[in-house]
Amino acid sequence: MRTTVRDVQSKAGNEPITMLTAYDAVTAELVDEQGIDVILVGDSVGNTVLGHDSTLPVTVDQMASHTTAVSRAVDDALVVADMPFLSYGHDEKTSIENAGRMLKECGAHAVKIESGPHTVELTETMVQLGIPVMAHLGLTPQRVNQLGYARQGTSEEAAATMLELAKEHEEAGAFSLVLEHVPSNVAAMITEELDIPTIGIGAGPDCDGQVLVVDDAVGLSDWTPSFVHEFGNVREEIRDAIGAYRDAVEAGEFPMPEHGHVEEELDGIY
Ligand code: KIV
Repeated sequence: MRTTVRDVQSKAGNEPITMLTAYDAVTAELVDEQGIDVILVGDSVGNTVLGHDSTLPVTVDQMASHTTAVSRAVDDALVVADMPFLSYGHDEKTSIENAGRMLKECGAHAVKIESGPHTVELTETMVQLGIPVMAHLGLTPQRVNQLGYARQGTSEEAAATMLELAKEHEEAGAFSLVLEHVPSNVAAMITEELDIPTIGIGAGPDCDGQVLVVDDAVGLSDWTPSFVHEFGNVREEIRDAIGAYRDAVEAGEFPMPEHGHVEEELDGIY
């Protein structure tokens, strides 16, 4: 059964919300099969799949393509499309067209926006128009040139500003809030103060849910942040399988007769 925005909201404070990223149909199908509540087509696709060293170069067209692939493969999870750098926030019309495209053309059920003072009104307008918005505070990687990848909310003032922004986005109608790389006690305090669910990444155990980049969670990434736990070793598995293939071809052990076929009537001709 399809998970809705309301289902996600009703889990707040009751049951942990599970969220993972996915960028392609095969991975999305596996994530969905495992009963993960929310699949985020993250702009982390820039790092994980497209080979960039930040999310900044990711385009709306790329997000549209990855979101469409994920949506095609998912039966149950709520699919959230991340809005890439500069696709929102400068002018309202373009922001809404870009976000609306993710729902109209690409099959997403909601969008995620890296939030700030400039996204409060935009969140309200999008929600009024029928575009559910997941807000995102703390470390917002699209601000790498201003903040780096450092922990956020580490002073009393910064934590208070984050809480204020969280409340403003809740008030504006955001259905949930991602908190990235913030102290556990700050995430716990914000979670306590909000009615909408918080979904943490590097934000401790007291958020209403958790999210990880799928490549990190399964052990495919060659580097992971300190707050990640790898639940598998897919990189090693892939490396071993590719090495075994190379060895078998080089040793003349692949393909074997059972991997090919012979047309008997052509025997003797060729
Ligand atoms: O792009 C992404 O994958 C994200 C998650 C880390 C929350 O924003």
